[in-house]
Amino acid sequence: MTEVVHTPRVFSGIQPSGGLTLGNYLGAIKRFVDMQESGIETLYCMVDLHAITVWQDPADLRHNTRELAAGYIAAGLDPAKSILFNQSQVSAHAELGWIFNCVARMGWMKRMTQFKDKAGKNAENASLGLFGYPALMAADILIYHSTHVPVGEDQKQHLELTRDVATKFNHDFGVDFFPITEPVIEGAATRVMSLRDGSKKMSKSDPSDASRINMTDDAETIAKKIRKAKTDPDALPSEADGLKERPEARNLVNIFAALNDQSVDAVLTDVGGKQFSEFKPMLVDLAVEKLSSISTEMARLMNDPAEIDRILGEGSNRARAIANPILQKTYDIVGMIRS
Ligand code: AMP
Ligand code: TRP
Repeated sequence: MTEVVHTPRVFSGIQPSGGLTLGNYLGAIKRFVDMQESGIETLYCMVDLHAITVWQDPADLRHNTRELAAGYIAAGLDPAKSILFNQSQVSAHAELGWIFNCVARMGWMKRMTQFKDKAGKNAENASLGLFGYPALMAADILIYHSTHVPVGEDQKQHLELTRDVATKFNHDFGVDFFPITEPVIEGAATRVMSLRDGSKKMSKSDPSDASRINMTDDAETIAKKIRKAKTDPDALPSEADGLKERPEARNLVNIFAALNDQSVDAVLTDVGGKQFSEFKPMLVDLAVEKLSSISTEMARLMNDPAEIDRILGEGSNRARAIANPILQKTYDIVGMIRS
Protein backbone atom coordinates (compact mmCIF):
# COMPACT_ATOMS: atom_id res chain seq x y z
CA MET A 1 0.00 0.00 0.00
CA THR A 2 1.31 3.47 -0.80
CA GLU A 3 1.46 5.66 2.24
CA VAL A 4 -0.68 8.78 2.12
CA VAL A 5 1.21 11.90 3.18
CA HIS A 6 -1.05 14.10 5.27
CA THR A 7 -0.56 17.87 5.23
CA PRO A 8 0.28 19.21 8.70
CA ARG A 9 -2.77 20.18 10.71
CA VAL A 10 -2.94 20.91 14.43
CA PHE A 11 -5.87 20.07 16.70
CA SER A 12 -6.28 20.37 20.45
CA GLY A 13 -9.06 20.81 22.97
CA ILE A 14 -9.79 21.74 26.56
CA GLN A 15 -12.84 20.83 28.62
CA PRO A 16 -15.09 23.71 29.67
CA SER A 17 -15.60 22.04 33.02
CA GLY A 18 -14.38 24.84 35.29
CA GLY A 19 -12.03 27.79 35.28
CA LEU A 20 -8.70 27.78 33.45
CA THR A 21 -5.57 27.20 35.53
CA LEU A 22 -1.95 28.18 35.04
CA GLY A 23 -1.42 24.49 34.14
CA ASN A 24 -3.85 24.76 31.23
CA TYR A 25 -2.19 27.98 30.13
CA LEU A 26 1.46 26.83 30.25
CA GLY A 27 0.88 23.18 29.30
CA ALA A 28 -1.63 23.82 26.53
CA ILE A 29 -2.86 27.29 25.49
CA LYS A 30 0.54 28.97 25.31
CA ARG A 31 1.69 26.11 23.09
CA PHE A 32 -1.46 26.48 20.96
CA VAL A 33 -0.46 30.10 20.32
CA ASP A 34 3.10 29.07 19.33
CA MET A 35 1.71 26.59 16.81
CA GLN A 36 -0.76 29.15 15.43
CA GLU A 37 2.14 31.52 14.85
CA SER A 38 4.16 28.82 13.07
CA GLY A 39 1.76 29.13 10.14
CA ILE A 40 0.33 25.59 10.22
CA GLU A 41 -3.47 25.23 10.03
CA THR A 42 -4.74 25.12 13.63
CA LEU A 43 -8.07 24.08 15.17
CA TYR A 44 -8.76 24.61 18.87
CA CYS A 45 -11.88 23.27 20.45
CA MET A 46 -13.88 23.65 23.64
CA VAL A 47 -14.78 20.01 24.19
CA ASP A 48 -18.23 20.38 25.74
CA LEU A 49 -19.22 16.78 24.89
CA HIS A 50 -16.25 15.59 26.93
CA ALA A 51 -17.16 17.90 29.82
CA ILE A 52 -20.54 16.18 30.37
CA THR A 53 -18.86 12.82 31.05
CA VAL A 54 -19.11 14.14 34.62
CA TRP A 55 -22.10 16.20 35.79
CA GLN A 56 -22.17 19.82 34.59
CA ASP A 57 -24.81 22.29 35.60
CA PRO A 58 -26.22 23.57 32.25
CA ALA A 59 -25.88 27.28 33.11
CA ASP A 60 -22.31 26.70 34.34
CA LEU A 61 -21.44 24.74 31.20
CA ARG A 62 -22.60 27.62 28.98
CA HIS A 63 -20.67 30.13 31.09
CA ASN A 64 -17.52 27.99 31.20
CA THR A 65 -17.59 27.38 27.44
CA ARG A 66 -17.70 31.13 26.77
CA GLU A 67 -15.06 31.80 29.41
CA LEU A 68 -12.76 29.19 27.87
CA ALA A 69 -13.23 30.82 24.46
CA ALA A 70 -12.42 34.19 26.05
CA GLY A 71 -9.30 32.62 27.60
CA TYR A 72 -8.16 31.25 24.24
CA ILE A 73 -8.56 34.64 22.58
CA ALA A 74 -7.13 36.68 25.48
CA ALA A 75 -4.04 34.45 25.50
CA GLY A 76 -3.38 35.16 21.83
CA LEU A 77 -5.45 32.78 19.72
CA ASP A 78 -6.83 34.75 16.83
CA PRO A 79 -10.15 33.60 15.29
CA ALA A 80 -8.88 34.87 11.94
CA LYS A 81 -5.85 32.54 12.13
CA SER A 82 -7.14 29.55 14.11
CA ILE A 83 -10.49 27.80 13.90
CA LEU A 84 -12.05 28.22 17.36
CA PHE A 85 -15.27 26.33 18.10
CA ASN A 86 -17.16 24.19 20.57
CA GLN A 87 -17.29 20.47 19.87
CA SER A 88 -21.06 19.90 20.03
CA GLN A 89 -21.68 22.27 17.09
CA VAL A 90 -19.80 19.89 14.79
CA SER A 91 -21.79 16.65 14.93
CA ALA A 92 -19.13 14.76 12.98
CA HIS A 93 -17.17 14.41 16.26
CA ALA A 94 -19.95 12.38 17.86
CA GLU A 95 -20.59 10.40 14.69
CA LEU A 96 -16.97 9.36 14.23
CA GLY A 97 -16.81 8.83 18.00
CA TRP A 98 -19.47 6.14 17.62
CA ILE A 99 -17.52 4.35 14.91
CA PHE A 100 -14.40 4.48 17.11
CA ASN A 101 -16.42 3.03 20.01
CA CYS A 102 -16.68 0.01 17.75
CA VAL A 103 -12.97 0.03 16.86
CA ALA A 104 -11.45 0.60 20.32
CA ARG A 105 -11.37 -2.35 22.73
CA MET A 106 -12.62 -2.55 26.32
CA GLY A 107 -9.15 -3.61 27.42
CA TRP A 108 -7.60 -0.44 26.00
CA MET A 109 -10.05 1.73 27.92
CA LYS A 110 -9.50 -0.18 31.16
CA ARG A 111 -5.83 0.75 31.09
CA MET A 112 -6.46 4.52 30.95
CA THR A 113 -5.09 6.10 34.11
CA GLN A 114 -7.27 9.23 33.74
CA PHE A 115 -10.40 7.07 33.95
CA LYS A 116 -9.05 5.37 37.06
CA ASP A 117 -8.21 8.75 38.62
CA LYS A 118 -11.53 10.37 37.76
CA ALA A 119 -13.80 7.42 38.51
CA GLY A 120 -11.91 6.67 41.72
CA LYS A 121 -13.21 3.87 43.93
CA ASN A 122 -16.70 4.28 42.54
CA ALA A 123 -16.07 3.10 38.95
CA GLU A 124 -19.40 1.20 38.81
CA ASN A 125 -21.19 4.52 39.17
CA ALA A 126 -19.12 6.45 36.59
CA SER A 127 -20.87 7.35 33.34
CA LEU A 128 -20.36 5.15 30.30
CA GLY A 129 -19.22 8.35 28.56
CA LEU A 130 -16.33 8.75 31.01
CA PHE A 131 -15.18 5.21 30.23
CA GLY A 132 -15.40 5.74 26.45
CA TYR A 133 -13.98 9.28 26.62
CA PRO A 134 -10.70 8.47 24.77
CA ALA A 135 -12.57 7.10 21.72
CA LEU A 136 -14.33 10.45 21.32
CA MET A 137 -11.00 12.20 21.82
CA ALA A 138 -9.52 10.10 19.00
CA ALA A 139 -12.47 11.18 16.86
CA ASP A 140 -11.88 14.87 17.70
CA ILE A 141 -8.37 14.56 16.35
CA LEU A 142 -8.87 12.20 13.43
CA ILE A 143 -12.04 13.79 12.01
CA TYR A 144 -9.69 16.54 10.72
CA HIS A 145 -6.88 14.14 9.77
CA SER A 146 -4.84 16.12 12.28
CA THR A 147 -1.14 15.36 12.36
CA HIS A 148 -0.02 17.20 15.52
CA VAL A 149 -1.68 17.58 18.92
CA PRO A 150 -0.21 19.96 21.54
CA VAL A 151 -1.14 18.86 25.08
CA GLY A 152 0.21 18.60 28.62
CA GLU A 153 1.99 15.47 29.81
CA ASP A 154 -1.20 13.98 31.35
CA GLN A 155 -2.70 13.42 27.88
CA LYS A 156 0.13 11.25 26.56
CA GLN A 157 -1.69 7.96 27.15
CA HIS A 158 -4.82 9.22 25.38
CA LEU A 159 -2.75 10.20 22.36
CA GLU A 160 -1.17 6.77 22.23
CA LEU A 161 -4.69 5.33 22.17
CA THR A 162 -5.55 7.71 19.32
CA ARG A 163 -2.65 6.22 17.36
CA ASP A 164 -3.89 2.71 18.19
CA VAL A 165 -7.41 3.56 16.97
CA ALA A 166 -6.06 4.97 13.68
CA THR A 167 -3.80 1.96 13.17
CA LYS A 168 -6.56 -0.57 13.89
CA PHE A 169 -9.10 1.21 11.67
CA ASN A 170 -6.61 1.40 8.79
CA HIS A 171 -5.68 -2.26 9.29
CA ASP A 172 -9.25 -3.61 9.70
CA PHE A 173 -10.49 -1.89 6.56
CA GLY A 174 -7.27 -2.28 4.56
CA VAL A 175 -6.88 1.44 3.98
CA ASP A 176 -4.32 4.13 4.73
CA PHE A 177 -6.88 6.71 5.69
CA PHE A 178 -6.29 8.06 9.19
CA PRO A 179 -2.90 9.61 10.00
CA ILE A 180 -0.81 8.41 12.92
CA THR A 181 -0.85 11.56 15.03
CA GLU A 182 2.21 13.05 16.75
CA PRO A 183 1.77 14.31 20.30
CA VAL A 184 3.49 17.65 20.91
CA ILE A 185 4.44 17.70 24.61
CA GLU A 186 7.06 20.42 24.82
CA GLY A 187 8.28 23.32 26.90
CA ALA A 188 9.39 23.82 30.49
CA ALA A 189 5.93 23.27 31.99
CA THR A 190 4.32 20.18 30.48
CA ARG A 191 3.23 19.17 33.98
CA VAL A 192 2.58 22.08 36.35
CA MET A 193 2.23 20.80 39.90
CA SER A 194 0.02 21.91 42.80
CA LEU A 195 1.43 24.85 44.79
CA ARG A 196 0.58 22.96 48.00
CA ASP A 197 1.89 19.50 47.08
CA GLY A 198 4.69 18.95 44.56
CA SER A 199 3.57 15.38 43.90
CA LYS A 200 0.10 16.36 42.63
CA LYS A 201 -0.84 17.95 39.32
CA MET A 202 -2.24 21.49 39.42
CA SER A 203 -5.89 20.94 38.62
CA LYS A 204 -9.14 22.86 38.38
CA SER A 205 -10.81 20.11 40.38
CA ASP A 206 -8.48 20.30 43.43
CA PRO A 207 -10.64 21.26 46.44
CA SER A 208 -7.95 23.71 47.64
CA ASP A 209 -7.99 26.98 45.67
CA ALA A 210 -4.55 27.78 47.13
CA SER A 211 -3.15 24.80 45.16
CA ARG A 212 -3.59 26.54 41.81
CA ILE A 213 -3.41 29.87 40.04
CA ASN A 214 -6.62 30.53 38.13
CA MET A 215 -6.42 32.60 34.97
CA THR A 216 -9.07 34.87 36.49
CA ASP A 217 -7.11 35.51 39.75
CA ASP A 218 -6.23 39.17 40.38
CA ALA A 219 -2.68 40.36 41.09
CA GLU A 220 -3.09 40.26 44.85
CA THR A 221 -4.42 36.67 44.82
CA ILE A 222 -1.61 35.51 42.53
CA ALA A 223 0.96 37.14 44.85
CA LYS A 224 -0.57 35.58 47.95
CA LYS A 225 -0.68 32.07 46.45
CA ILE A 226 2.94 32.22 45.28
CA ARG A 227 4.15 33.62 48.61
CA LYS A 228 2.38 30.73 50.39
CA ALA A 229 3.52 28.07 47.88
CA LYS A 230 5.23 25.11 49.54
CA THR A 231 9.04 25.10 49.17
CA ASP A 232 12.07 23.67 50.96
CA PRO A 233 14.64 25.50 53.10
CA ASP A 234 17.57 25.27 50.65
CA ALA A 235 18.88 27.86 48.21
CA LEU A 236 18.22 27.32 44.49
CA PRO A 237 20.80 25.22 42.61
CA SER A 238 22.70 26.50 39.59
CA GLU A 239 21.88 23.48 37.42
CA ALA A 240 18.71 21.52 36.62
CA ASP A 241 20.23 18.36 38.15
CA GLY A 242 20.03 19.99 41.57
CA LEU A 243 16.21 20.09 41.33
CA LYS A 244 15.80 16.32 40.94
CA GLU A 245 14.72 15.49 44.47
CA ARG A 246 13.04 18.86 45.07
CA PRO A 247 9.59 18.72 43.40
CA GLU A 248 8.25 22.00 44.82
CA ALA A 249 11.40 23.95 43.93
CA ARG A 250 11.44 22.37 40.48
CA ASN A 251 7.82 23.33 39.91
CA LEU A 252 8.36 27.01 40.70
CA VAL A 253 11.47 27.15 38.49
CA ASN A 254 9.60 25.41 35.65
CA ILE A 255 6.76 27.93 35.97
CA PHE A 256 9.23 30.81 35.89
CA ALA A 257 10.98 29.40 32.81
CA ALA A 258 7.75 28.78 30.91
CA LEU A 259 6.28 32.21 31.72
CA ASN A 260 9.52 33.92 30.69
CA ASP A 261 10.10 31.76 27.57
CA GLN A 262 13.45 30.61 28.93
CA SER A 263 15.01 27.20 29.46
CA VAL A 264 15.29 25.90 33.04
CA ASP A 265 19.09 26.05 32.75
CA ALA A 266 18.98 29.70 31.68
CA VAL A 267 16.77 30.55 34.67
CA LEU A 268 19.08 28.72 37.08
CA THR A 269 22.12 30.54 35.69
CA ASP A 270 20.42 33.75 36.84
CA VAL A 271 18.86 32.64 40.13
CA GLY A 272 21.16 29.82 41.33
CA GLY A 273 22.23 30.49 44.95
CA LYS A 274 19.19 32.64 45.76
CA GLN A 275 16.84 31.79 48.63
CA PHE A 276 13.09 31.45 48.02
CA SER A 277 12.60 34.68 49.96
CA GLU A 278 14.30 36.37 47.03
CA PHE A 279 13.07 34.15 44.18
CA LYS A 280 9.36 34.18 45.07
CA PRO A 281 8.96 37.98 44.66
CA MET A 282 10.63 37.66 41.23
CA LEU A 283 8.13 34.96 40.30
CA VAL A 284 5.23 37.07 41.63
CA ASP A 285 6.28 40.04 39.47
CA LEU A 286 6.69 37.87 36.37
CA ALA A 287 3.39 35.99 36.87
CA VAL A 288 1.43 39.18 37.51
CA GLU A 289 3.00 40.86 34.49
CA LYS A 290 2.20 37.97 32.14
CA LEU A 291 -1.19 36.92 33.52
CA SER A 292 -2.92 40.17 34.46
CA SER A 293 -3.28 41.38 30.88
CA ILE A 294 -4.86 38.02 29.98
CA SER A 295 -7.38 38.11 32.82
CA THR A 296 -8.29 41.74 32.06
CA GLU A 297 -8.88 40.87 28.42
CA MET A 298 -10.92 37.79 29.39
CA ALA A 299 -13.18 39.95 31.55
CA ARG A 300 -13.61 42.44 28.71
CA LEU A 301 -14.54 39.71 26.23
CA MET A 302 -17.01 38.18 28.70
CA ASN A 303 -18.97 41.46 28.62
CA ASP A 304 -20.08 40.58 25.11
CA PRO A 305 -21.20 36.92 25.10
CA ALA A 306 -23.05 37.37 21.79
CA GLU A 307 -19.74 38.17 20.09
CA ILE A 308 -18.14 35.03 21.59
CA ASP A 309 -21.09 32.94 20.35
CA ARG A 310 -20.69 34.50 16.91
CA ILE A 311 -16.99 33.54 16.82
CA LEU A 312 -17.82 29.96 17.87
CA GLY A 313 -20.56 29.74 15.22
CA GLU A 314 -18.20 30.88 12.50
CA GLY A 315 -15.45 28.54 13.71
CA SER A 316 -17.94 25.64 13.70
CA ASN A 317 -18.86 26.36 10.06
CA ARG A 318 -15.20 26.27 9.09
CA ALA A 319 -14.59 23.09 11.13
CA ARG A 320 -17.59 21.35 9.52
CA ALA A 321 -16.27 22.13 6.06
CA ILE A 322 -13.16 20.07 6.87
CA ALA A 323 -14.81 17.34 8.95
CA ASN A 324 -17.85 16.45 6.84
CA PRO A 325 -16.02 15.15 3.74
CA ILE A 326 -13.76 13.04 5.99
CA LEU A 327 -16.85 11.66 7.77
CA GLN A 328 -18.54 10.82 4.44
CA LYS A 329 -15.44 8.98 3.29
CA THR A 330 -15.27 7.11 6.61
CA TYR A 331 -18.91 5.96 6.29
CA ASP A 332 -18.12 4.82 2.78
CA ILE A 333 -15.08 2.81 3.93
CA VAL A 334 -17.14 1.19 6.71
CA GLY A 335 -19.90 0.22 4.26
CA MET A 336 -22.73 2.57 5.20
CA ILE A 337 -25.13 3.49 2.40
CA ARG A 338 -25.27 7.26 1.85
CA SER A 339 -28.10 7.92 -0.61
P1 AMP B 1 -8.20 19.75 30.89
O1 AMP B 1 -8.34 20.95 31.76
O2 AMP B 1 -8.07 18.48 31.66
O3 AMP B 1 -9.22 19.69 29.79
O4 AMP B 1 -6.79 19.93 30.18
C1 AMP B 1 -6.61 20.74 29.05
C2 AMP B 1 -5.17 20.81 28.62
O5 AMP B 1 -4.38 21.40 29.64
C3 AMP B 1 -4.54 19.44 28.32
O6 AMP B 1 -3.67 19.57 27.22
C4 AMP B 1 -3.77 19.14 29.57
O7 AMP B 1 -2.69 18.29 29.35
C5 AMP B 1 -3.31 20.53 29.98
N1 AMP B 1 -3.09 20.60 31.43
C6 AMP B 1 -4.04 20.50 32.40
N2 AMP B 1 -3.47 20.59 33.63
C7 AMP B 1 -2.14 20.75 33.41
C8 AMP B 1 -1.01 20.92 34.28
N3 AMP B 1 -1.14 20.92 35.61
N4 AMP B 1 0.21 21.05 33.71
C9 AMP B 1 0.37 21.06 32.36
N5 AMP B 1 -0.66 20.91 31.49
C10 AMP B 1 -1.89 20.75 32.01
N1 TRP C 1 -8.73 14.93 27.09
C1 TRP C 1 -8.27 16.28 27.07
C2 TRP C 1 -8.11 16.76 28.52
O1 TRP C 1 -8.76 16.31 29.41
C3 TRP C 1 -9.21 17.18 26.32
C4 TRP C 1 -9.39 16.75 24.91
C5 TRP C 1 -10.51 16.21 24.34
C6 TRP C 1 -8.41 16.82 23.88
N2 TRP C 1 -10.31 15.97 23.03
C7 TRP C 1 -9.04 16.33 22.71
C8 TRP C 1 -7.09 17.25 23.84
C9 TRP C 1 -8.35 16.23 21.51
C10 TRP C 1 -6.40 17.16 22.62
C11 TRP C 1 -7.03 16.65 21.47
O2 TRP C 1 -7.33 17.62 28.74
